Amino acid sequence: MKEAVKQNMRRPVVAGNWKMNLSRAEAAALVETIKPAVTLDESVEVVLCPPYTALSHVHDELRRSNIQVGAQNVFWERSGAFTGQVSVPMLRDAGCTYCIVGHSEARGSFGILETHEGSLSYFAETDRTVGYKVRALLDFGIIPIVCVGETESERGSGQTEGVIDKQLEGALGTLDEAEMGSVVVAYEPVWAIGTGKTCESEEANRICAFIREKIGEHADAESAEDLRVLYGGSVKPNNARELFAQSDIDGGLVGGASLDGPGFVHIIRAAQGNFLR
Ligand code: PGA
Repeated sequence: MKEAVKQNMRRPVVAGNWKMNLSRAEAAALVETIKPAVTLDESVEVVLCPPYTALSHVHDELRRSNIQVGAQNVFWERSGAFTGQVSVPMLRDAGCTYCIVGHSEARGSFGILETHEGSLSYFAETDRTVGYKVRALLDFGIIPIVCVGETESERGSGQTEGVIDKQLEGALGTLDEAEMGSVVVAYEPVWAIGTGKTCESEEANRICAFIREKIGEHADAESAEDLRVLYGGSVKPNNARELFAQSDIDGGLVGGASLDGPGFVHIIRAAQGNFLR
């Protein structure tokens, strides 16, 4: 592990991805356990990403706190005949300041509905549609949390860096330097999501550094240095501190463990303890 406390200009983010869980009442109860832990400390940005049905309710519950609300997905068109979709202006209206895009549970390959390695890609997200979503979000001032990451077989066949580079290019390839400053990237190895198999902290750090390096090539060195890169995939109270202590990991995207109030607070504390501002 690197030094326990690091100093840098990148304000860390801990985002809770609640996925398809929690009623409005359950969401409100969870918010109550998290709110007091965050209110007096602004060293870490905390974002809660409930399902659409609880977004504005959670936003209301979070008034007078500095916790932010994010969505788990979005459609890039502003309005129209798109049954079942939710637009960026609607997310703004519900109080969102963040939105996850390109999560592996929403991605497919080349737009074809498929199932692989237990990761059910029902929604056929592609690098290109992730790019449309990023552009639409930035147009309305919502920060995209862009998820990238390889499957187990891609890792096994040495394609990790190539896959991630392609995902970054699709999502962020058209952004200018100013726009790059408003993006967060989450490295989420697919094999580590919901499996309890966390990526070793040094390996996660190596890939996060690779992401930063690629952004430096696609955009510029300053954007790369300022970019916040999160790690996601079985982040738990017992591994968060070591992960967040790594030099190129600026917080976490937390799934299962974000549904447990005290555990999630522990993870937030791990981020607070690791960054000195
Ligand atoms: P997990 O999910 O923490 O349950 O592995 C992370 C994610 O999917 O964002």
